[in-house]
Amino acid sequence: REKVTIQTLQLLRARKEPITMLTAYDYPTALASSANPAIDITLVGDSLAQVCLGLKSTTQLTLDQMIHHASAVARGTTHPLLVADMPFGSYHASVDAAIDNAVRLVREAQVEAVKLEGGEEIAELVHRLCSFGIPVMAHVGLLPQRHVAASGYKVQGRTVDAAKALMRTAKILEEAGAFSMVVEAVPKQLGQFITDNLRIPTIGIGAGPATSGQVLVWDDAMGTWNGHKAKFVRRFANLQSVRDDGVRAYAQAVKDGSFPDPQRESYTIDQDEWARFL
Ligand code: KIV
Ligand code: NA
Repeated sequence: REKVTIQTLQLLRARKEPITMLTAYDYPTALASSANPAIDITLVGDSLAQVCLGLKSTTQLTLDQMIHHASAVARGTTHPLLVADMPFGSYHASVDAAIDNAVRLVREAQVEAVKLEGGEEIAELVHRLCSFGIPVMAHVGLLPQRHVAASGYKVQGRTVDAAKALMRTAKILEEAGAFSMVVEAVPKQLGQFITDNLRIPTIGIGAGPATSGQVLVWDDAMGTWNGHKAKFVRRFANLQSVRDDGVRAYAQAVKDGSFPDPQRESYTIDQDEWARFL
């Protein structure tokens, strides 16, 4: 498949063909999405922190860790548009520092766009990045990087005021130049309303079926994650049971001496050569 561009996403939105985004954290997960022409966007999410690095929260992830993983994902990515999260703290101190960090993601990790959590307070940054040619995917609704301030991971936009504020925020980020927007954990009605009232494609996660696209975390979708399973997660595979079976079979074969097989899985040396060695 030809490279997916921002224009491709606009086309998909216009055709009402749902956009597919899946996270990846390393070379093999990047290859898996690139092998499927129906995947439009690969996201190196900062969910990397929990599902891949065993950290408690995305707020513990460093920019260097993100660059290390995103560059591996880039090496395995072909047609999908490649987007990476800017980690917590890497775009907060100042617009200038944030630009330096976004440039590092583009230059050192070869990502094509960055994703930023936040609202009006990051609008100036979104505008600056876009003006330099670094495309920005916005992220509104539930903002995992702010889970402490928000007293947990909660559904957003469930009151009139909260829903109005969210729509207003989405509009501000679109006007600042975002090419697309993740909408996380909002009522399906609001997911549709935001989608209908923006010109850019929305990518929902827990935002109902009416957004322009959907995203899931790789480990949630493939069943390799043991932690909390949100209402919006669907498990499309159970790699965990396949993996556990494999570990069990390997350990058993080594323990009972059936692996390696002396014929099929071992090398040998010419008999005369071996006699002289002895
Ligand atoms: O970090 C992540 O994986 C994300 C997606 C779930 C949107 O931000
Ligand atoms: Na994220």
